Amino acid sequence: MKEGNENNIKDDKENVFGIYGLGAMGRNLLLNMADHDFAVAGYNRHNDKVALLMEEGKGNGVNGYTELPDFIGSLTSPRVIMLMVTAGKAVDEAITGMLPLLEKGDIIIDGGNSHFTDTARRCQELEEKGFHFIGMGVSGGEEGARNGPSLMPGGDEQAYMHVEPILQAIAAEVDGERCVTFLGAGAAGHFVKMVHNGIEYALMQLIADTFEILKKGLRKNDDEIQKIFSEWNKGRLQSYLIEITAAIFSFKNVDSSHLLLQDIKDEAKAKGTGKWTSQVAMDLGLPIPVIDTAVAMRDLTKFKSLRTKAAAIYANAPREQLTGNPVKYLETLEQAFYFSMVIIYAQGMHLLSQASDTYEYKFELDQIAKIWRGGCIIRSAFLEDIFSAFHANAQLEHLLLDEAVQSKLKSSIPCIRTVVSDASKFGLSVPAYAASLSYFDAFRNEQMPANLIQAQRDFFGAHTYELIDKEGVFHTKWSSV
Ligand code: 6PG
Repeated sequence: MKEGNENNIKDDKENVFGIYGLGAMGRNLLLNMADHDFAVAGYNRHNDKVALLMEEGKGNGVNGYTELPDFIGSLTSPRVIMLMVTAGKAVDEAITGMLPLLEKGDIIIDGGNSHFTDTARRCQELEEKGFHFIGMGVSGGEEGARNGPSLMPGGDEQAYMHVEPILQAIAAEVDGERCVTFLGAGAAGHFVKMVHNGIEYALMQLIADTFEILKKGLRKNDDEIQKIFSEWNKGRLQSYLIEITAAIFSFKNVDSSHLLLQDIKDEAKAKGTGKWTSQVAMDLGLPIPVIDTAVAMRDLTKFKSLRTKAAAIYANAPREQLTGNPVKYLETLEQAFYFSMVIIYAQGMHLLSQASDTYEYKFELDQIAKIWRGGCIIRSAFLEDIFSAFHANAQLEHLLLDEAVQSKLKSSIPCIRTVVSDASKFGLSVPAYAASLSYFDAFRNEQMPANLIQAQRDFFGAHTYELIDKEGVFHTKWSSV
């Protein structure tokens, strides 16, 4: 049944885009489309969700439905239906429920955080049945959906061309360019979104490490921390995540007596996209240890009672004080943050480049950096440098090999060493800083100690080893036992 709204200016039967699932994301995307003069329809089986859409879209030509046949019947052909439902089973159930009501040639878009292997399967299944499928990452949260998200579509290119004008109209804009582009066949879009989230996890851990250093190491109060993040956000660390962190450090609790942050438990939740990124990277044999550690640290937060016991046992473990000029130290910290941030993005881009080869996505890494510059959670000033690096050289094997990146990174190396070693002496856990430095030192190590690992494997398991100056594989009887 259609929920009426006398003020709506556009009638049904002419809706060019439909969204199935009217949570905050689905609703806001529809309102964004309506703002751009597209006649759009939303479906949800719950009346209250549809009523909210109609209320917020008053006078804007948004139509809401609680019955699937009415919703699908209201769409122009080929019908375009975007699913905004929880990733997993709900996506398959929604598709199965809709298919009998659709016609060949209709377009289904999955805008959730689906696992890329599910997207690859759905692409194939729907193509075999004569439907077009697009798996599209949508980033930016509720605010982004309403005012301009970053959109990461992949799958059926012909279908993408059909919906491109709408996606272009609603996406975030940076320097006159929209943050959306077709990323490749199959699950390319959802793969890119997954890596986006892996980078998001690592950047968030890096900011959390910084909070730990500022609060416990440098004994800064909330106000001072707020100012530091605000200052950083004016320079080369400018990013959405730093910006919201500064805002969190001025957000008071209900009676305005202290920061809301102080009342929040130190146990972080995760929906799983960071874990998927690490799992896939390990399957591909491609190291992204800062993302891995960010996933692991979120898991460690959940062991609160265990941490409380360990804290009591090891509270008096010896440690040194952080010393030095506090103002100068903040400059050092800014440099160290820059260093780790570069490493995090570099690892994400490296994973994308490996996946591009393995899954034949044919990614253009500069274009991915470009659509991440606005709308999404990991948007930052540094994405301009990433764009420039891969734009100048599409074959660039690793971001750390880019000349402009390396010259900026080099000057921050002494600072990351200072911060990691000071934190370690002080007994502070700074996993994102430490993992980025370890990765870097291994990455620039022409002679890693892996010869010893080869020897050990051969010693205990006869797994053989290879020699530097002789082809082939060798085995040695290492002991007489
Ligand atoms: C985005 C975000 C979003 C994600 C949340 C929660 O790009 O808008 O990545 O898609 O779902 O950030 O993720 P976790 O629950 O895994 O932290």
